[in-house]
Amino acid sequence: PLLLLLAELACDAQPTYQWKDAVTGQRVTCQQCPPGTFVAQHCSRDRATVCEPCPDLHYTQYWNYLEKCRYCNVFCGEKQVEVQQCNATHNRACQCQQGYYSNMELCIRHSECPPGSGAAKPGTPFEDTQCQDCPHGFFSSNSSTNPCQPHQDCEQQGKVTNVQGNKYHDTLCMSCRPGRGNSTQESAAEDDDCDQAMIDFVVYQNIPVKKLKRLQQILERSPKKQAAWTRAAIQEKFRAFLTHKKEEDSAVTKELLDALRVVKLHSIEEKVRKRFQL
Ligand SMILES: *[C@@H]1O[C@H](CO)[C@@H](O)[C@H](O)[C@H]1NC(C)=O
Ligand SMILES: *[C@@H]1O[C@H](CO)[C@@H](O)[C@H](O)[C@H]1NC(C)=O
Ligand SMILES: *[C@@H]1O[C@H](CO)[C@@H](O)[C@H](O)[C@H]1NC(C)=O
Repeated sequence: PLLLLLAELACDAQPTYQWKDAVTGQRVTCQQCPPGTFVAQHCSRDRATVCEPCPDLHYTQYWNYLEKCRYCNVFCGEKQVEVQQCNATHNRACQCQQGYYSNMELCIRHSECPPGSGAAKPGTPFEDTQCQDCPHGFFSSNSSTNPCQPHQDCEQQGKVTNVQGNKYHDTLCMSCRPGRGNSTQESAAEDDDCDQAMIDFVVYQNIPVKKLKRLQQILERSPKKQAAWTRAAIQEKFRAFLTHKKEEDSAVTKELLDALRVVKLHSIEEKVRKRFQL
């Protein structure tokens, strides 16, 4: 049998098959039909196999002695795209559309990596996103399928590092130079930058979540009803609130200093006053 198999492999240009002629009962060796065709008539002792092309919506992928082509029986479902049309030699083939991967016959949306982590390998039609904790020097502040971003380099921009980045947020720079402020034209823009720098500095201090929430309540004048957020999430929200408030009223830095005193974060209050000469 092994020899036979080898012999068949050797003449793979024109594969054959054994057929028993219905009329004579004789065994004959017929030529197979090439891909895209089927056997319309089996061969006989004195006539070769008659092959015909597959009709529409039917195919044969290999050399064959089928009496009918196969029906293109794959249909693309929801969240799928056609990657191979049904033609005479191929069944229709489908794949999950962009942003989805295939799992147990279903197309599932690629997972997002939570804040503090990013995609080490982006998802494919066959595999989900692979997340990793952001490595040192990188951050991701939201849930996304993007990779972690590198921290910015303040010195390179001729600025001063105000807050060192971590895996949840970028490094924050400032051009504010406390004390150098004089009543020049640029001072309005500079004051604004200093206010923002002070807000950033306070928000990203290593403040216990409980006190951070108290600060937030005082500044936002909101009743106690915060959800169980992570420190990073509270920091982002609090910073956005303070930044918005700063644009509306200039007393926000003073309020923030007062609030620091109320919640007894004296060492931080001291640090802020010294750094920003307040
Ligand atoms: C069918 O599609 C395949 C892949 O796209 C292609 O290689 C092949 O030539 C096509 N066959 C016919 C008969 O058009
Ligand atoms: C997540 O953050 C990245 C980088 O800051 C940004 O490009 C992207 O649009 C954000 N995605 C969402 C859903 O907010
Ligand atoms: C403030 O500006 C005045 C002149 O406008 C200058 O004499 C003074 O040295 C400046 N002070 C500082 C601290 O830069």
